[in-house]
Amino acid sequence: VPDEEALGKAASRIIAEQVQAQPDSVLALPTGRTPLRVYRELATLDQRGELDLHRVRFFHLDEFYPMATESPTSFQAFLWREFLSQVSIDRANVYFLNGLADDPAAECRRYEEQIAAVGGLDLVVLGIGVNGHIAFNEPGSPFDSRTRLVTLCPESRAASAYLFPSAEEVPRQGLTMGIGTIMEGHRILLIAVGERKARAVSESLGDSLTPALPASFLRQHPDLTVILDQEAASLLKRV
Ligand code: GLP
Repeated sequence: VPDEEALGKAASRIIAEQVQAQPDSVLALPTGRTPLRVYRELATLDQRGELDLHRVRFFHLDEFYPMATESPTSFQAFLWREFLSQVSIDRANVYFLNGLADDPAAECRRYEEQIAAVGGLDLVVLGIGVNGHIAFNEPGSPFDSRTRLVTLCPESRAASAYLFPSAEEVPRQGLTMGIGTIMEGHRILLIAVGERKARAVSESLGDSLTPALPASFLRQHPDLTVILDQEAASLLKRV
């Protein structure tokens, strides 16, 4: 698509069609700058009465660890601020990882059980990290990884520094859905904007499948849609 605005429209249309076809859809949603336009478009559709999100179940992809739920720097707070508070939903349908869980392994198991209990993820919306990560699955993450505690790469911490008063305050760890968890979603939508994503996009979509680029695994999914703006697509090889 030509630009971020068009990406917002195209991605929100796919999400809206999913919800119209299946009103109790289970969505997995990303934080970050990329989906902001998508969330704004969905909020507009909701306010115009063209979208009914009351029965939709929402999961987020990842969270910093440790991170207090109520902290404005949590991904949970981000998703409420940028999207969930702007639309009409049932709060009981929102599922988040607790970034302050005493036992992160148990918290991740609980999250997997919640996903299974609602029948699995219908649509997983993903951004991509500058290093090719998806959610917080950093390079080296196994194909069959599940929701777990991970150590963040310096690039990922640097990319999140804008959310914090200073770069040192970005947590060193995160809780994330695994690549296996994401790949079990019925449908995947990957979105990327801007020149800084161009290398990760072209290597993940064009080169070999490798744990060094977690997003490359997505090509094995039977129902993957990728939406890129011109800049993010600028290094894709022509075929
Ligand atoms: C973060 C999140 C990812 C997100 C990525 C890209 O680290 N864990 O889920 O997709 O970074 O963020 P942005 O859209 O701000 O570039």
